[in-house]
Amino acid sequence: MSEATLEEKRTSLQAIAGEVSQCRKCELCGGRTNAVFGDGSPDARVLIVGEAPGKNEDLQGKPFVGAAGKYLDELLGIAGLSRGDVFIANVLKCRPPGNRDPRPEEIQACADYLRDQTRAIGPEYIVTLGNFATKFILRTETGITRLRGRLQRAGRFKVFPVFHPAAAIYDQSKRPVLEDDFAKLGELLAAD
Ligand code: URA
Ligand code: SF4
Repeated sequence: MSEATLEEKRTSLQAIAGEVSQCRKCELCGGRTNAVFGDGSPDARVLIVGEAPGKNEDLQGKPFVGAAGKYLDELLGIAGLSRGDVFIANVLKCRPPGNRDPRPEEIQACADYLRDQTRAIGPEYIVTLGNFATKFILRTETGITRLRGRLQRAGRFKVFPVFHPAAAIYDQSKRPVLEDDFAKLGELLAAD
């Protein structure tokens, strides 16, 4: 199968974004200001997957615009990337109340959107931030502490799990680990 053109990828993503903005498949639709589809290059070599929108993301309709987003920008820089190079999305498109953990039924209800986004973009690497994204993409019960910094595979995608940047803001001892992992991501990207 030949690779979709940039324009075809853009069109596919717009169609999925239209569905997400109208979605009422789980109860999180009731509390949202905006669904957060995701943002970045339709042609990205790297797809970054977070957990769910927080307060700022819900208000602005864009992923990682709060404190965790600022730190994510720094981490991308360590890997030699900027936001325009990657695509950033979340497992859940709507904010859980009070930023509580996503529930299994919400993850299941929302799953097709991330799958469709991933297929539309066709990235080489998927970088999963934290436990929820890692467990979802790898279909594993193994925790992030064991998986982080080790290259995995899911179908035709290379998967690189790392700590969630918000966890490293909360627990400073995770910062050097997370920064080393992004340096390693930069090396992997440069090598092939
Ligand atoms: N945390 C996430 O997992 N996703 C966001 O978009 C913002 C914070
Ligand atoms: Fe739909 Fe996902 Fe939002 Fe639930 S979280 S309403 S499944 S877009």
